[in-house]
Amino acid sequence: MSENPKKMVAVGEAMLELAPVEGGTFRLGYAGDTFNTLWHAAQLLGARARAGFVTRIGVDKLSGRFLAEMEADGLDISTVQRDAEREMGLYMIELEGAERSFHYWRQLSAARRLADDPDTLGRALSGADLVHVSGITLAILLPEARETLFDAIAKARSEGARISFDPNYRPRLWQSPEEARDTCLRMLDHTDIALPSFDDEAALWGDATPEQTLERLSGQGVAEIAVKDGAQPVWYHAEGHTGRRDTPVLTELRDTTGAGDAFNAGYLASRLLGHSVEQAIGMGQTVGGAVLGEPGARLGKDAARALAASLK
Ligand SMILES: Nc1ncnc2c1ncn2[C@@H]1O[C@H](COP(=O)(O)OP(=O)(O)O)[C@@H](O)[C@H]1O
Ligand SMILES: [Mg+2]
Repeated sequence: MSENPKKMVAVGEAMLELAPVEGGTFRLGYAGDTFNTLWHAAQLLGARARAGFVTRIGVDKLSGRFLAEMEADGLDISTVQRDAEREMGLYMIELEGAERSFHYWRQLSAARRLADDPDTLGRALSGADLVHVSGITLAILLPEARETLFDAIAKARSEGARISFDPNYRPRLWQSPEEARDTCLRMLDHTDIALPSFDDEAALWGDATPEQTLERLSGQGVAEIAVKDGAQPVWYHAEGHTGRRDTPVLTELRDTTGAGDAFNAGYLASRLLGHSVEQAIGMGQTVGGAVLGEPGARLGKDAARALAASLK
C-alpha cells in the first residue's frame, strides 16, 4: 500500500452499455464519460489512490450489479447514492467501420438527481485531491442542481482539490448551444485542468484550430489545458508554455468509443503522481490508443492493469 494514497473523485453518470460484438450481438457493460475516466484511472493507480465515483443509481438488480462490479474493480463505492424511484440509463453503440453513433434511453435516469442533496455531495467531494467533471455531467442536471454542484466544487477547490473538466459537448443533451456555452463558462471559473476534444470545441465555439481552443480557454483563466484531436497532435498550455505532442499512429482501430475518456484517465493519473504535462499527455495517448483497439468504452481489467506498469 502507498503511504499516502491520493483521493480522486469523478462526478457523473454511468449507463448500461450495449456494445456491438460479432454476429450482430451486443455485450452488456457499464459506461459513461466520467465513469470511464475514473475506472481507468483507478486501474492505473491501484493502491496509490482511492477512486470514488459520485453518482446516483437505482435500487434495482442491474444497479446492484453495477455497484458490485465497481467494488470488485477496486473503486470506492461510498460516494454512490441510491434512488428508490429511478434506475440507470441505457445506451447502445452502433458501428459503421470504426465510427460510432449512439442511441440513448437516459431521460429519467437516477444520475440526473446526483446533485439533489448538497450535504451528500459535499461529503463525497471533501478531502479530494482531484475532482473530475464533464459537460455531460452538467448537461444532465437541472439548473438548481448545477448550482449545488458548482458550490460543492468551489468548496472542494478552496480546500485544496484540483478541478479537471472535459467539456464533452453533446448537443442533444442541452436545450440550446447558448445554454451549453453559458454553463461551460461558469464551470471554467472553477477549472484548473481543461481536457477538451477539438471537434467538440469547434462545434460549440466555432474554434478553427486547436491553438484557438488553447487561447480561448487560457483567456478564461484555465492554467492547464490539453486539447485532444483524434490522430492529430495534442496541443497543450501549462506553466506559461504552449506546445504540441504527436499522437502515435495506431495499427488497429476497432471502436472509437471512449478514447477521449481514457486519455483523460492516463493524463490525470499521471498528473496525480506528479509527472510533467508532457509525460501525462504520453500516458493519455497510450491509454486512449489502447481503448481504440477494443469494443466498448473500457479496456478489460487485465489490459488496464497491465498499463499501470508504464505509470511509475
Ligand atoms: N485515429 C486515431 N489514431 C490514433 N490515436 C487516436 C485516434 N483517435 C483518437 N486517438 C487517441 O485518443 C485520444 C482522444 O481521442 P479524441 O477522438 O480526440 O477524443 P474523443 O473520444 O473525446 O472524441 C487522442 O488524443 C489520441 O491519443
Ligand atoms: Mg470526448
